[in-house]
Amino acid sequence: MVATNVQGKESAGVTPALWSSRFVFIMAAVGSAVGLGNIWKFPYITGQNGGGAFVLVYLICIAIIGIPIMMSEVMLGRRGGKSPIGTMGAVAAAEGRSRNWAGVGIMATLAAFLILSFYSVIAGWTMPYIVEAAKGGFAGIAAEDSGAMFGGLLASPGQLLLWHSVFMGLTVLVSAGGVKHGLERAVSWLMPALFVLLLILVGYAMTTGHFGEALVFLFRPDFSSLTAESILVALGHAFFTLSLASGAMMAYGAYLKKDVSIARTSFTVAIMDVCVALLAGLAIFPVVFAHGLQPGEGPGLIFVTLPVAFGQMPGGGFFATLFFVLLLFAAWTSSISMLESLVRFLEEKGVGRVKAAVGGGLAAWLVGITTVLSLNLWSDFAPLAMFERFEGKTLFDIYDYLTANIMMPLGALLTAIFVGWVMKPEHSAAELGGQWHALWHAVVRYVTPIGVLVIFYFNLF
Ligand code: TRP
Repeated sequence: MVATNVQGKESAGVTPALWSSRFVFIMAAVGSAVGLGNIWKFPYITGQNGGGAFVLVYLICIAIIGIPIMMSEVMLGRRGGKSPIGTMGAVAAAEGRSRNWAGVGIMATLAAFLILSFYSVIAGWTMPYIVEAAKGGFAGIAAEDSGAMFGGLLASPGQLLLWHSVFMGLTVLVSAGGVKHGLERAVSWLMPALFVLLLILVGYAMTTGHFGEALVFLFRPDFSSLTAESILVALGHAFFTLSLASGAMMAYGAYLKKDVSIARTSFTVAIMDVCVALLAGLAIFPVVFAHGLQPGEGPGLIFVTLPVAFGQMPGGGFFATLFFVLLLFAAWTSSISMLESLVRFLEEKGVGRVKAAVGGGLAAWLVGITTVLSLNLWSDFAPLAMFERFEGKTLFDIYDYLTANIMMPLGALLTAIFVGWVMKPEHSAAELGGQWHALWHAVVRYVTPIGVLVIFYFNLF
């Protein structure tokens, strides 16, 4: 079977083979979706934004904005059959509209690039933790010592740079070989293994005596702790965790066979993604409460708490090693998808796959160095401090804010407008199938754009 684009021709000679089955697509999409966002970011932003009410808003954002946008992106990707930039231009042209819609693809590709630059630095943290775990370094560790160990890592630009470089190298390696080749086999067993390990950790968390406290924290909404900004953070995270508005799902959708149900597939991916995040929360917060740690601790949360938990359980050294290895792999299958839009775009411009992957990776690596420095030497450098919103924000904080809170919501808004108002309903129905189309179409026409606009309005004005 050959991928056909909207003009009915084979796409620009760079169309790689399609995913071999629906299962493989799901695993690749879940591989992209499940990553640091679920296990590192979700617990710490939940801690910072007060727990239950934030979790509820996040779940609502996933259901009424995230899933419809995921369906839209996979649908557009399959219809366009190109890089997100090429796809947006081609589908718009086929609808008789301006090719400038490619701008949505450009912003998505840029967002993915910026995210990759700092994601690689954070993912790098897993590697010294693997080494330490394997050496048995967490045995009986106290919370303060674990905090000091993490602080020591962040204070060392050399260490951070080393692991950032290794991780970016790994990402480029798979990307250069073609995503399908490296990804298919890996994700099919990694994701299930990660899931089982999280269940074991939740099992341990139940023995800490603080599981009930964690349940209350995560699931009893206290709306007094909810601010307009935390709603924006929840929305931004819904996009981040599902790899939306950044080309990843559009790029992967281009490799999807025509007979696969986009709606069912998107539901499956989103549900698995949410389950991993909630399991991570259930594994981490009991430990936080049991050791008097702060839920609002910030980006170091799992790196400080989990070693303490591992240090106290039987076989902890083994499980800790396994956990950080799986986290590394989860981050890896995500970072590959971040590079994909750019690599596909460069390929369409005639650059070879290897060159495109190496060039894109190198550029993201360079930008990533500014994140490395934000954590130590430049930790007081707040280049946008003249705007109140960015006071005290380092370059790393700014990349995170710009991508998750501005570029992704904006990209998703434009995507919803495109599929809801610009694209002819017959054309989207041809991809999505009858059963879900009417509901989806109403949601992307009204609910998604209004939801995003309202959240934007209360934050930016
Ligand atoms: N969803 C991934 C996570 O939660 C991150 C991710 C993968 C991503 N691909 C992306 C984020 C593309 C933005 C853009 O870790």
